[in-house]
Amino acid sequence: MQQPNWPDTAQLDGALKQIASFPPLVFAGEARSLQAALGQVASGNAFLLQAGDCAESFEEFTAVNIREKLRVILQMAVMLTYSMGVPVVKVGRIAGQFAKPRSNDTEMVDGKELPVFRGHMVNDPTANLDARVPNPQRLVQAYHQAASTLNLVRAFTKGGFADLNRVHSWNQEFVATSAEGQRYEQVASEVERALAFMRACGIDTETNNALHQVDVYTSHEALILGYEEALTRQDSLTGGWYDCSAHMLWIGERTRQLDGAHVEFLRGVENPLGCKIGKTTDVDYVLSLCEKLNPARIPGRLTLISRMGASSVEESLRPLLRAVRDAGHPVVWACDPMHANTFTAPNGRKTRNFEDIMSEIVGFVKAHRAEGTWPGGIHIELTGDNVTECLGGSEAVSNEDLDTRYETVCDPRLNARQSLDLAFRVAELIRSNT
Ligand code: PEP
Ligand code: CO
Repeated sequence: MQQPNWPDTAQLDGALKQIASFPPLVFAGEARSLQAALGQVASGNAFLLQAGDCAESFEEFTAVNIREKLRVILQMAVMLTYSMGVPVVKVGRIAGQFAKPRSNDTEMVDGKELPVFRGHMVNDPTANLDARVPNPQRLVQAYHQAASTLNLVRAFTKGGFADLNRVHSWNQEFVATSAEGQRYEQVASEVERALAFMRACGIDTETNNALHQVDVYTSHEALILGYEEALTRQDSLTGGWYDCSAHMLWIGERTRQLDGAHVEFLRGVENPLGCKIGKTTDVDYVLSLCEKLNPARIPGRLTLISRMGASSVEESLRPLLRAVRDAGHPVVWACDPMHANTFTAPNGRKTRNFEDIMSEIVGFVKAHRAEGTWPGGIHIELTGDNVTECLGGSEAVSNEDLDTRYETVCDPRLNARQSLDLAFRVAELIRSNT
C-alpha cells in the first residue's frame, strides 16, 4: 500500500542499489539501547517523548532548523523529567521522516489532475506535473540529508549543547518572554539548584556524562519499502537484521494491514517498532498485531501509538488496553493527539486546535488510569520555529493568524511555545495522578 508509481523502474533499481551500497545510518547496538529504554517505558518506569516534523523538507534543511527542533525537544524533556521524576526517552521524527501516506493517488488542482505530493523523498509539492512525477534520485537525496541531520544531532547531543549545566541557554529569546518561557526558566533554575546541591554533597557534576550528554534517537514512518530494504543490514555481532535507516520505525494508520507488506517487512527486522492505531481498531486486530510484531514478547519492541480523536479516545482505547494487558503483551502505549484532530479552518488551511490536542491526551491518561496501565508517552508534530499552524495555546494563535507563518510541508505543527505549554500540562497531568 501507499507506494509511489515510479515511472522508470530501472532508475528506481539504480537508486536503491546505490543506497544499499552506502553505510548504515544507525547501528544495531543503538537500536538495542533504545529498545531497552522503551522496555523501561513499557514497565511504567520511564516516559516516551517522540516528536518532530510531520514531514521533513529538502528546502528547510539548515543547522538552525535542526538545532531549534532539538532545543524544544530537550526543553520539553527537562520539563517532563523534572516534574515526573522518571527518565524521558527522547525520539525524534527526524533524519528520515520524508515520506507521506495519502488518501488518494491524485488530486485536482485548478481543474487539472496531478499525482499527489508524497513527501520530499518521492516528489515535489509544486502544483505541476513535472514536479509531481516520483523521482528515485530523491531517495538518494533523502539518505544524504538524513546522514547530515543525524551527524548534527549527534554533535549537538554529545558535544556540549545538551549539557544539563546549560539548561537556561536552551530557552530561545522569542520564547523566554512568554508565559511558557518563564515557567521553563523557573524549572531551569530549580534544576541548577539541584545540581549545586549535588556538588555541595560531594557529587562531581563536571565529569558525570549523564549530565553532559543525552541520547536522542531517530524514527520515521517506514513507508517506502525499497528505501527501508536498501538500508537493512545484518548485525555482525548478533547476526540479527536491522533496518539501519533509523533507530525506531513505525507503521502508519494506512499501511498496518496484518497481511500487508509493511507488517511483513518490519516483523523481520529487530528494531523497536511503532504502529499507529485509529479509533476503529478492534481487540482482535490489536492482539494479532502484537503476536505478529512481537511474538517473543520483548519489552520495548512494540509501541502502540493511539490516534483516536479527543472525543473518542477514552472509550475506544479502554477495551484495547484491557485486552493487551490481559494477554500479557509488554507494549509501550503512546498518544498521538495530532492526527485525529485535524480540520480545515475557514481560510482553507489544515489546522489543529491546541485544546483538542490536550484533550486527547487527557482522555488517553484517563483511559490508562481506569485500566491500571501506564500512559507511556506522547507522539507530537512540532517545530522549534515561531510558526502559526495550530490554533490556540496560551498566547493564542487565531484563525486570522494562520496565514502569518504557515510553513509546514504537510500537517500543522505545534510551535516552540505551544510545545512547551504542552509539556507543562502533560507533566502536571501525569504527576497529579487523579
Ligand atoms: C503521521 O504520523 O504523520 C501520519 C501520517 O500519521 P497516521 O498514519 O497516524 O495518519
Ligand atoms: Co502528520
